[in-house]
Order: sequence, then C-alpha cells, then structure tokens
Amino acid sequence: MSVHKDVKKVTTHVLQEMKNAGEKITMLTGYDFSMARIIDNAGIDVILVGDSASNVMAGHETTLPITLNEMIYHASSVVRGVDRALVVVDLPFGSYQGNSKEALSSAIRIMKESGAHSVKMEGGQEILESITRILTAGIPVMGHLGLTPQSIYKFGTYVVRAKEKDEAALLIEDAKALEAAGCFAIVLEKIPADLATKVAKEITIPIIGIGAGGGVDGQVLVVHDMLGINNEFNPRFLRKYNNLYEQMTGSFKEYINDVRSGDFPNEEEQY
Ligand code: KIV
Repeated sequence: MSVHKDVKKVTTHVLQEMKNAGEKITMLTGYDFSMARIIDNAGIDVILVGDSASNVMAGHETTLPITLNEMIYHASSVVRGVDRALVVVDLPFGSYQGNSKEALSSAIRIMKESGAHSVKMEGGQEILESITRILTAGIPVMGHLGLTPQSIYKFGTYVVRAKEKDEAALLIEDAKALEAAGCFAIVLEKIPADLATKVAKEITIPIIGIGAGGGVDGQVLVVHDMLGINNEFNPRFLRKYNNLYEQMTGSFKEYINDVRSGDFPNEEEQY
C-alpha cells in the first residue's frame, strides 16, 4: 500500500521515504500548463520538464538545440499547472558543461524565473564540479546516466548503453559519485535491466528508470510517447496507454467535415 500517495506536496525527502518504504515513484514529462495540470491532478509524483521538449514540442531531431530561455518558458508554464508534484527541469545542452560557474547561473535562472523545485543534469564524474556547485547553492539535482541524449553525437546511435563490462562498471562508479555528491535521485536511461537493478540496490537514493526494467525505484516516460501522440516512435520499452494520434486525427477530421458541411455551429452553438 502506498503511504505517500496522499502527501500534499511531493518533495525530494518524500521521494527518499518512498524508496525506503519500497513504494514505486511515478514520473512523466510535461511541457505546458494544461498537460501539467492533468498529470498533476491524476496524482503523479514527479513532473520532468525534459529537454525532450526539443523533439516533441519543437520538432528538432535531437535535444541539443533547445535553449535555456525556452526551457524556462516550458518550466514556468508547468509550474503554474502543478499543486502537488515535484517539478524537475532539465538543464539544456551547453548551459552547464562549460564550467561550474556557468552551470550555477543556469540553474539559478531556472529556479528563479520558473519557480521549479530542482534541476536534472546528464553525465557522471565529468560534470561533478558543476553538480557540486549547484548543490552548494541549495538547488536539488537529479542525475541522468546511461543513454544521455545530449551526447548523441558522441554515441552515434540511441541503442542500449552499458551492455559491455567496462561501461557498466563506469556507470556504477558514476552513480556512486552522484550519490556521494548529494544528488537526490538518478534517472537511468536505456540500460540492461540487471544493471539497473544492481544500481538501485547498491545506491541509497531513488533510481528512476526509462527502458531500464522493473527493478528500479520508479519509472519515467515521455508523455507524448505514452499517450501515442507520436505514432512513429515505438521502442521496446514504451508502453502506450492511448493512441491519441488516431483519436485526435479523427476529431480534427470530424471538425473539418462539420465546418465544411455547415453542420457546425448549429442553433444551440450560437448567440
Ligand atoms: O528529456 C527527457 O524527457 C528525459 C527523459 C527521457 C528522462 O530526460
């Protein structure tokens, strides 16, 4: 039974308590006010304003082009729609990798200008100085390891990461470094389920998986993917809870026909 589902506001401490109590953490992405409101009212624990907005909202091929200003716009829209969930915002590519001072000023802009509760950053030991500086300012940080889409041009493809021993060992080291630095949780993306389970057992902070199997402390999906809005994205890890692409197309076609035929608006739909 979930003890924490009735908490008024989800905090990083609540997430830790959930892990300690063996309660699964639920997380979805959100990018705008209306969707955030629906997701929050449904009872989600965490809303991630992901830089996947670059793909699903702006239509870019990768997450690299989205800017800090655009992330702040999405984050502030989400924050206005949320009463209960913890709001985490991705620091976009180029806003934190350069140096820790720049990383801190990017994180401060997100917190000040959007009202969000925390930030997420992709990478392990190579960005530890930036993570530590942001944490020192009192800003909670969620880590992100495994497939890190901001490094897509280094990886070359979106295939499963850390299948080989060396990469798996490095991922465990990175997860331990993020935990020691004080991150409040870590997202593990697209890695073997056995490895993710091992990390979730060895690390005391919550581990949230996407394409990382069921042995972790919680799950995250991109909301457009799980609603089936984008019918071209069908990875194995994705469960579609709707087929909104088809449902929305049906509604749009009906509206077009109704307007063209003069059926809409009818007598009751006018003043
Ligand atoms: O940007 C995003 O949506 C993410 C999730 C896939 C975890 O980082």
